[in-house]
Amino acid sequence: MTEPVFQTEKVLVFYVNGKKVSDDNVDPEMTLLYYLRNKLRLCGTKLGCGEGGCGACTVMVSKYDRRKAKVIHLAVNACLAPVASMHGLAVTTVEGIGSTKTQLHPVQKRIAEAHGSQCGFCTPGIVMSMYALLRSSPRPSMKDMEIAFQGK
Ligand code: FES
Repeated sequence: MTEPVFQTEKVLVFYVNGKKVSDDNVDPEMTLLYYLRNKLRLCGTKLGCGEGGCGACTVMVSKYDRRKAKVIHLAVNACLAPVASMHGLAVTTVEGIGSTKTQLHPVQKRIAEAHGSQCGFCTPGIVMSMYALLRSSPRPSMKDMEIAFQGK
């Protein structure tokens, strides 16, 4: 009689800007931000404080909520999130919503037209906070916006 074979899943699988990422060589201490910038070369997501205070690293993480039977979208500080925690989830970075090479997303366009940035370093994080808010709440209240931009 043969022993049952138990396989342990060791491959990280998630989606970034709609593309499947499979990786069987992930350092469990690696953050999502490090992975995006150094492994996927998506450098639009910035490293500012590295401790969850500035929001420059904000991305949108989407997951299916079984209780609500719908996809929920969250703004997440990529500098704090372990990349391993993204297994089965979908990540959207600022590159995934628009660019000057393709077409700017309305959030990007309005910020640019209204001179809504100072040095611009954290602007991708501001864009992604607003984008995630609008995906969850297409007509946010002032209170919703205050909460979305107050930092985490
Ligand atoms: S780099 Fe400042 S919150 Fe992540």
